[in-house]
Amino acid sequence: MTVLVTGGAGYIGSHMVLELLEAGETVVVLDNLTTGFWWAVPKEVTLIEGDMGDQALVGRVIAEHGIEAIIHFAARIVVPESVADPLGYYLNNTSKTRNLIECAVKGGVKRIIFSSTAAVYGDVKVNPVTEDTPQNPVSPYGRSKLMSEWMLQDTARAHGLAYVILRYFNVAGADPKGRTGQSTAGATHLIKVACQTAIGDRPEMAIFGTDYPTPDGTCLRDYIQVTDLARAHMAALKYLRGGGESGIFNCGYGRGYSVREIVDVVKQVSGVDFRVVLQPRRPGDPPAIVAEAARARAILGWQPIHDDVAAIVGQALAWEKALRVRNAA
Ligand code: UFG
Repeated sequence: MTVLVTGGAGYIGSHMVLELLEAGETVVVLDNLTTGFWWAVPKEVTLIEGDMGDQALVGRVIAEHGIEAIIHFAARIVVPESVADPLGYYLNNTSKTRNLIECAVKGGVKRIIFSSTAAVYGDVKVNPVTEDTPQNPVSPYGRSKLMSEWMLQDTARAHGLAYVILRYFNVAGADPKGRTGQSTAGATHLIKVACQTAIGDRPEMAIFGTDYPTPDGTCLRDYIQVTDLARAHMAALKYLRGGGESGIFNCGYGRGYSVREIVDVVKQVSGVDFRVVLQPRRPGDPPAIVAEAARARAILGWQPIHDDVAAIVGQALAWEKALRVRNAA
């Protein structure tokens, strides 16, 4: 029973591969290495450099490796980039996902786990958000993911495919054993940017917006540790193999941290009082978005074990230092 991981050389995908290996699974990674790294894939895993929208290739991989389940991470994920290049996002995240789903149907793959996002909810009025909160994405990124959710649901109904859609909140941290982490150059994510500033890779960082209707005026987000997120996929795989019904699940801890709180934690954990400048709001940022993730715990049996913001920051910081050594070599 081989699991195909698209985007397995990327941030979340590479943590997934480690979890699968630790569980004794056979894994094939398909990644075009545009934002992933070959070195992020352990040597015992088959890495196929190629595009998940390439149906000839995917069809061959499914047949040759006897793929039983697909965990589909490969995507473009930068919200402002999606505003500037909507067609690129709809091609990569939506059209190619359509091709992949078709290959799964034709190749007899019965299970798909799909990476979706809190961005499908858009600007929410009430927190925490449940899976039934109306979806009203405000970016092409969010729409590209929501359309993929719909395609997967429709195809599952028509062709007897079983799926789990996981809607990730703010993914952060790194493998606690230091084997992989967030390595994308030019990343815009808060914890990574703050860690880069703490170790001196950036002279300063900005807090975008201090006039939000939140306790300290900065945005609130639900930060989920990346290994815990990979473990949610493991729980989903087990659930589907056990005959579980297809469904959608939020992945978060159900607690919001403000931007200022996160910056303070990074300063405390790093011991560096780095320079922070206050800037106007960043376009498209919702003031607050926090998950209600009871469904994943109750139905998938997911039990997070890394819900500790200081530990998450510690892992991100350690990875940033390791990355600097790697990039200098
Ligand atoms: N922020 C700063 N300074 C920075 C970087 C971020 O103040 O240098 C703030 C942002 O304005 C925002 C918060 O920190 O208020 C979190 O920003 P991130 O860029 O880390 O994450 P987002 O909440 O914007 O985006 C995340 C995922 C997206 C997903 C979205 C769904 O990265 O893929 O959540 O809400 F679409």
